[in-house]
Amino acid sequence: MSKIFKPLQINRLSIKNRFVRSATVDNLGENQVVTDAQLNFYRELARGEVGLIISSGLFPSLDGWAAPGQLGIHTDEMIPSLKKITDTVHANDGKIVAQLMHAGWFGNPGLCGLQTVGPSETVNPANNLKVRGLSSDEVEEKVDEFVKAGVRAVEAGFDGVQIHAAHGWLVSAFLSPVTNRRNDNWGGSASNRARFVIKITEGMRKAVGPDYPILIKMGIKEYHPEGKSTEEGINSAILFINAGMDAIEVSEGVEETPFNHIRPDRMDPYYVDECKKAREAISKPLILVGGMRNLSDIEKVVDEGIADAISMCRPFIMDQHIVKKFRQGSSKRSLCTSCNKCIPTMLERNLHCTFNSGLINF
Ligand SMILES: Cc1cc2nc3c(=O)[nH]c(=O)nc-3n(C[C@H](O)[C@H](O)[C@H](O)COP(=O)(O)O)c2cc1C
Ligand code: SF4
Repeated sequence: MSKIFKPLQINRLSIKNRFVRSATVDNLGENQVVTDAQLNFYRELARGEVGLIISSGLFPSLDGWAAPGQLGIHTDEMIPSLKKITDTVHANDGKIVAQLMHAGWFGNPGLCGLQTVGPSETVNPANNLKVRGLSSDEVEEKVDEFVKAGVRAVEAGFDGVQIHAAHGWLVSAFLSPVTNRRNDNWGGSASNRARFVIKITEGMRKAVGPDYPILIKMGIKEYHPEGKSTEEGINSAILFINAGMDAIEVSEGVEETPFNHIRPDRMDPYYVDECKKAREAISKPLILVGGMRNLSDIEKVVDEGIADAISMCRPFIMDQHIVKKFRQGSSKRSLCTSCNKCIPTMLERNLHCTFNSGLINF
């Protein structure tokens, strides 16, 4: 009997099965206010029996804002709007965690009027924007902004918080030797590069209490020739757990090819090797993302103990009820082909699956 429909505990949070909706920015907000389209999307995910929903990436400070329509968690004014999301999910028997996502070098000065920032001065190869290196006082401020955003997540009714430390965005840029070339306490050695996450975790743990779930999505491995090693990724994850982290979603770190983590045409789990290595060293819950499409793959990952849960993004853009269909036995695989044609729709603020837009309207 497979474990995929058995509950999982993450600190005080109990989730009803091993399916997680991985964070998915939808850009469907209007002037920093949640829209009906967003509430409908979250309601259908909850009705579709997803065990845990990770929210869209929410920016914890204005300079971390990436795209029009993206919601923030940077001021107390955001709380009522975010509360509508958590109320909708809870009313439909779901659980939801807030993802804190600072854009770093993917920041959008045209939107927020602030220069793009990172651990070190550089030029983002994806858009040629100049990135300003943060001073050490400003790094402390960023830590504080993450902690305050975590407190707002509690006030908005989220069941936990997830720090986005993957894919080259600000937090992962601190972890990587490719993007962090500082020579103060925040850079250089692996433990110095890990300090940013450790300070955020410790500060947040103190602010939200011992039993509130704090998760991280991180790149155990970097798909970049000068990136950190898998061993370093695992050692850093252990440091984060010692600092108070409750669960790790395994993704990739700084990428040589931007958006390599949303792999086109891959319909098989693509971070299994690094997750297996992480499993040997980490007993806290691991969640594995990337390429989960077939029920047989999902069962293998969970039942062989490679990870405790799996997460998916694109399959839920296509069909928010896929988990319910798996449980009822009416589906054995997601029909998502990883074609990535939904990405332009997200950028145009009309997120949908171009292959199957009529399945569930939100
Ligand atoms: C439209 C879209 C939006 C995404 N937004 C986020 C985000 O806000 N935060 C994040 O950590 N990852 C984001 N991702 C990456 C996914 O969470 C996931 O890691 C990746 O798509 C691989 O999983 P999949 O094969 O199930 O799609 C996004 C991906 C897509 C396609
Ligand atoms: S457009 Fe549809 S089929 Fe293509 S990746 Fe997006 S959700 Fe999957």
